[in-house]
Amino acid sequence: MVGRAPQDWNQLYRVLLRLLCLLPTGLPVRSVDFSRSTDNITVRQGDTAILRCFVEDKSSKVAWLNRSVIIFAGQDKWSIDPRVALEKRNPLEYSLRIQKVDVFDEGPYTCSVQTQQHPKTLQVHLIVQVPPKISNISSDITVNEGSNLTLMCKANGRPEPLITWRHLTPSDGDLNWEEEYLEIVKITREQSGKYECKAANEVSSADVKQVRVTVNYPPTITGAKNHKAATGKQATLQCEASAIPLPDFEWYRDDSRINNAQGMEIKSTGSQSTLMVANVTDDHYGNYTCVATNKLGIANASISLFKPVLPTIPNPLSESGPTDYFKLKGPGTAPGNTGSPCPTSSLLLLAASLLWLLCKC
Ligand SMILES: *[C@@H]1O[C@H](CO)[C@@H](O)[C@H](O)[C@H]1NC(C)=O
Ligand SMILES: *[C@@H]1O[C@H](CO)[C@@H](O)[C@H](O)[C@H]1NC(C)=O
Ligand SMILES: *[C@@H]1O[C@H](CO)[C@@H](O)[C@H](O)[C@H]1NC(C)=O
Ligand SMILES: *[C@@H]1O[C@H](CO)[C@@H](O)[C@H](O)[C@H]1NC(C)=O
Ligand SMILES: *[C@@H]1O[C@H](CO)[C@@H](O)[C@H](O)[C@H]1NC(C)=O
Ligand SMILES: *[C@@H]1O[C@H](CO)[C@@H](O)[C@H](O)[C@H]1NC(C)=O
Ligand SMILES: *[C@@H]1O[C@H](CO)[C@@H](O)[C@H](O)[C@H]1NC(C)=O
Repeated sequence: MVGRAPQDWNQLYRVLLRLLCLLPTGLPVRSVDFSRSTDNITVRQGDTAILRCFVEDKSSKVAWLNRSVIIFAGQDKWSIDPRVALEKRNPLEYSLRIQKVDVFDEGPYTCSVQTQQHPKTLQVHLIVQVPPKISNISSDITVNEGSNLTLMCKANGRPEPLITWRHLTPSDGDLNWEEEYLEIVKITREQSGKYECKAANEVSSADVKQVRVTVNYPPTITGAKNHKAATGKQATLQCEASAIPLPDFEWYRDDSRINNAQGMEIKSTGSQSTLMVANVTDDHYGNYTCVATNKLGIANASISLFKPVLPTIPNPLSESGPTDYFKLKGPGTAPGNTGSPCPTSSLLLLAASLLWLLCKC
């Protein structure tokens, strides 16, 4: 087949040229010598292509063919395509102009020139380039951790664009996948985020689009600290859980659920929840359970509210006896720490007075 093709072409030309009276009817067909040359011309889709052809003398008979179809025979336009025209800047030029070139125009074009002695054909291969364009990409998606995910990115362009996938957030330079389909087996929460598909060829700048992947996973408690508060004070118990979708929180005291009442307030925002006790009493001390739930699971943590242990270094001034004494006795002494140097100074004064009295005697 392949070997036969050029011969078929030649035969076809001969028939066509004869039909067009381009070949002298009397000339034996076998003796016709086609001097051929093939050129490639590359044009971007939408641009104008000019296929150059020149004749050696004005009396030459000429024609333009698209594959085997005649477009122009001499000055006569056979094609009905309004985009094609002849370009003749001088009497010897017989170029073909094609406006708004499209992919279907790609292929071989032939300029056939019949001079007195040498019939020749000039073959031009028109190559149409198309900038890369992503035509279809997976939409943003939410999957459960552990499932398999396939992202799709289809692009058009000539030459065929090269597709590359990247994981943008959180930055993960490792992924550099060069296929239309990106397959993620057993997706993890770290693999959530934005994925970028890039379609590139040498025609123009790459086309880039993104897909957001959300990975759902069950809650795990990431923060729960025991809390110390004295009676009469305010206490805030904090609980933090990591989960997608964001968790709902509940607080329990032993087996009973705590509501916003009786001086307790629960506030939950995002991945955090707090239980606030406005005025701690002895009844409040004990264990609390923070429970975080989403549609994939549940997690809990125990948080205890405890009483501060008694101070290890007892402050004598906090005992009522001496404080009262100095309050009454010390002239101008305020209660608390400022009273501490007073006993010594008073004793010194007393001693000095005694000495002075002794000296007088
Ligand atoms: C024309 O392009 C084809 C591929 O499209 C290539 O094989 C051939 O070598 C090119 N010819 C010239 C003359 O550039
Ligand atoms: C060339 O031929 C192809 C196939 O028949 C056609 O689709 C295209 O429109 C033609 N182009 C020109 C410029 O004649
Ligand atoms: C994109 O591809 C999907 C899956 O193959 C298909 O269902 C959808 O119709 C396509 N969308 C467009 C605009 O081609
Ligand atoms: C995910 O893909 C792996 C490997 O192709 C396969 O063994 C597994 O069964 C798949 N899991 C699901 C849930 O389809
Ligand atoms: C805390 O409760 C105690 C006893 O019920 C009360 O005497 C005290 O005034 C309260 N403190 C505050 C700040 O509400
Ligand atoms: C509180 O919980 C801890 C351990 O989580 C446990 O050792 C302790 O006995 C509990 N206290 C009460 C009062 O239940
Ligand atoms: C907390 O979790 C444990 C096991 O994970 C479970 O046995 C317990 O019942 C849970 N407590 C609450 C209050 O949900």
